[in-house]
Formats: sequence, structure tokens, C-alpha cells
Amino acid sequence: MSRSDRPLVAVTRVIPQAGLDLVREACEVRLWAGDLPPSAAQLADLLRGCEGALTLLTDTIDGAVLDREPQLRVVSNFAVGYDNVDVPAATERGVAVCNTPGVLTAATADATWSLLMAAARRVVEGVDYVRAGKWQTWGPTLLLGQEVTGATLGIVGFGRIGKEVAKRARGFDMTVLVYDTYRDEVAEAELEVTFRPLDDLLREADFVTLHVALTEETHHLMGKREFGLMKPTAVLVNAARGPVVDTDALVAALRDGEIFAAGLDVTDPEPLPADHPLVALPNCTVVPHTASGTVQTRDAMASLASRNLLAVLRGEEPPACVNPEVLGRR
Ligand code: DGY
Repeated sequence: MSRSDRPLVAVTRVIPQAGLDLVREACEVRLWAGDLPPSAAQLADLLRGCEGALTLLTDTIDGAVLDREPQLRVVSNFAVGYDNVDVPAATERGVAVCNTPGVLTAATADATWSLLMAAARRVVEGVDYVRAGKWQTWGPTLLLGQEVTGATLGIVGFGRIGKEVAKRARGFDMTVLVYDTYRDEVAEAELEVTFRPLDDLLREADFVTLHVALTEETHHLMGKREFGLMKPTAVLVNAARGPVVDTDALVAALRDGEIFAAGLDVTDPEPLPADHPLVALPNCTVVPHTASGTVQTRDAMASLASRNLLAVLRGEEPPACVNPEVLGRR
């Protein structure tokens, strides 16, 4: 791209500087500077006439949005998940959809573990207890949690992040069970984990962590029936997408002691209103979808999302494209 031929691109939120600088060097940037995502109408204005869009998981990019902008060549999502983008609609229209796999794997696995430990050992309840001035003495039965070392971990979704979660379980001498629709027997052997059908995994695991993409098949993968299979001492961690879990069923399971606790990076709805029943439950630890939120990882995501965007605009192969069949079509 020459200086005189700078494509117009939309960036739908302020992303780390490293990424913005890359895009600004080569493109005319229309940046949404608000702290909150643009509304559908604001997004439509922002995208008008753009050849590229660097989007967030909070932006809905569907067929109607794409039809308004036939010159759009690439939607580069600042996330590994891309359920906010209608990929078949993009493919039909020859629009490349890119994402940021790999660079956030370790941060997300670390965060899964922080939620697992916090929920198992009632860390937030302990902090609240101290802050409320309730700490009067050491107590033999005060805020007892569940033992992590030596327990059984069930990993649902044995992709990049699930595998990193499994690696970390070694340090806790855990038995690790995994479930996925796709078997990776090489990784299973290498990481010394055992495949189980989902129902068996839910029955046997002391800790269940979720790492699947949100699709029609995984929507409400965890519902009333599945919570009924889990141990009353079990802990659920959702580091995938909120709608993978049926929220009403989770509230009931936590409230009725069907499971011990939950640690949630993601929720349905998202954001979760402060008066939502999940927020009030002491055995539910919720963080605001920050699993990939380290300085280093968000820099890497910004850089990868920008490199994806620029590569497509230059007619080159982007580092991470989810519908590569469209490349070179226009
Ligand atoms: C993703 O990348 O899909 C996460 O949910 C946010 O980093």
C-alpha cells in the first residue's frame, strides 16, 4: 500500500498502542474512542466506506452489516473467539474473517487456574469476610474449601487453552480427564490425560473447566441435566463463552448445593448486572471477561489483529484467518 493509496479502516475501540500504530502507519483510521462499544447504528456509521474493520467481540457483524459495506474486505477480530461474526455470511461475500489464536493461550489458562483456585478455596468470600470486620479468631471450620492437590480435573474442550490448563494440573498431581468432539490422541498421551465422554467426565471430575467455542452445538452444553451429574463438591470454571452454560440452571445448582462453587470469566448475559442472582451468590466468583487481560497478551493480540488486517488489505496471507478460502477471491 502506497502513502497515496491508504485504505480506510475502522477500529471499533481503543486497542493497545502497538496495534494502533501498525494500522495507522498504513491506513486511514476511523477509531471509535468510546469506553463502551458502538451501538448498531454507530457501528454502521463507523464502517461506512471502510475496506477493513478491526472489531471486538462486542461488535455484531452479520449479513446485514456486511451488505451495507460491499467494499469491506476484512473483519479482523481482536479475540480468538469469533462468534460475534457471521462467518458463513462473510465467506459468501468474500470477506476474510481473522482472529488472534495462540497469543492468549497461556494468559487464559493461567486465569482459568486463578478462578479454579479462588472458587475452590473461597478466596473472595475470605476477602469479603476480612473487609467486613468479621475476622475475630482462627477457626477450625472457617470458610472450608475443596482440596485441589490430587483431585480430578475434567477439561471440556481440549484445544490450545484446554491443553495449557492440563499442563498446569501436573503441578497439582491431578488426574486429568478431557472431553472434546475431536480426539487428539497424540496430545492425550503426551499430557498424560484420559479421554472421557462428557457425562462420565462430569460424574467423575472434582473440577470442570470449559474451553469450547460457542456454536449451536455448545450452546447450553451445561444445563440442569449436566449439573445433576456433577458431584455436590465439584467446582465449575467457565473460560469459554457465557451461553455455553444455561445461567438459570447454574444459579439453581449453586443455590441448591448441587455443585460447590463456580468461577466465571464469562457470563450470559454479558455484562452481568450487579443485581443479577449470580453476583449475589457467595459461591460464585465472577470476573468481567478478563482471562486474556495481561499487558503482554493484549499487546500481542493488538499486534496480531493489526497484522491480520493489513495482510488481507495488501493481498497477502494473514497469520490467522478463519475462512482462508476467501483469500485472493477479490
Ligand atoms: C477471546 O479472545 O475470545 C477472549 O474471550 C477474549 O480475549
